[in-house]
Amino acid sequence: MIQDILKKQKLNREDIIYLLSVTGEDEKTLFRHAAQIKEKTVGNTVYLRGLIEMSNVCAKDCLYCGIRKSNPNTNRYTLDENEILSAIRFAHENRYGSVAIQSGELNSPAFIHKVDNMLRQAKEITHNEIGITLSCGEQTEETYRRWFNSGAHRYLLRIESSDELLYYRIHPRDRNHSYDIRVEALKTLRKIGYQVGTGVMIGLPFQTVEHLADDLIFMRTLDIDMCGMGPYIEHKETPLYESREELLSIQERFRLTLHMIAILRIMMPDINIAATTALQAIDKLGREKAIQVGANVLMPNITPGKYRDNYSLYENKPCTNENADDCKSCINIRVQMVNHEVGYAGWGDSKRFEKRKFNLSH
Ligand code: 5AD
Ligand code: FES
Repeated sequence: MIQDILKKQKLNREDIIYLLSVTGEDEKTLFRHAAQIKEKTVGNTVYLRGLIEMSNVCAKDCLYCGIRKSNPNTNRYTLDENEILSAIRFAHENRYGSVAIQSGELNSPAFIHKVDNMLRQAKEITHNEIGITLSCGEQTEETYRRWFNSGAHRYLLRIESSDELLYYRIHPRDRNHSYDIRVEALKTLRKIGYQVGTGVMIGLPFQTVEHLADDLIFMRTLDIDMCGMGPYIEHKETPLYESREELLSIQERFRLTLHMIAILRIMMPDINIAATTALQAIDKLGREKAIQVGANVLMPNITPGKYRDNYSLYENKPCTNENADDCKSCINIRVQMVNHEVGYAGWGDSKRFEKRKFNLSH
């Protein structure tokens, strides 16, 4: 019985597998329970992270990703410093509280320096007010530290799949795409003092509900502060497209993602969970639905409009032809539509992180 499972203090693997598969009334019960837990712990405030897609130049070759190095049909771009800073200024002026800066993965000294410089300037022009999440892939401990000292305080690094075998079915098996290094990177980020976020893709070829249950347990074991996870959406110009016959329907991937979000909210009530853009690519109200079942962070895209088409990780990416201003007016409406309110100005740190910090200092 679903009620018996939902009463438990700690869900085990079988419970999670069961919850991932519920339908009909039981599914409604799951979603309602997750919504109640959210209301009680993080409340009905949705925090904004203005998403800046800094560059789609990438040194890696993930088998699912549209901006992988070996895709010759991507128009590569890199925002210059002024473009990045004006997006940051926009977020600050509109009281977004935080920005999330995402990029293809590069490890060159020039790239590291550019990010570092950008961080310092972002802090300076916003009088230290803007919160900054970085999502720039795997870097050395030294680089992570350098960026932390320059003002980044949250870092997102998706594990993509916590199952090592599945990981190597969706990444080339080489030193540049090592599962162990990725897990180690997450631990290093935590050690340095970042709020750490991870996440997975849902509905990958060869992925089972057991894998997904293990992904959630991986997040709990790592005691993450934030999570961003979304449905896998096949991209024609990637090697994984060949395995499209293996896929669940796009609607099933969408539903499974809502289940993952709801279950994670139940397992880790006080973390931040993003309603990701990939959900919106499938359903116009995808992110709102995610908010209703447990998500509490929205990442409106504030990349200068002319570049958006080129950051195509997957197909049908939404809002690629808008300006940030267009999005601004619809955010409030969207959030209010599902009876939530936007948390303007504050950094919106995860409650989980605040508690951990408190425990460490007492
Ligand atoms: N479908 C869905 N998500 C994808 N990502 C990359 N490619 C795809 C895809 N085809 C996600 C990865 C990555 C994030 C930036 O985008 O999880 O970490
Ligand atoms: Fe760029 Fe995966 S293809 S990090």
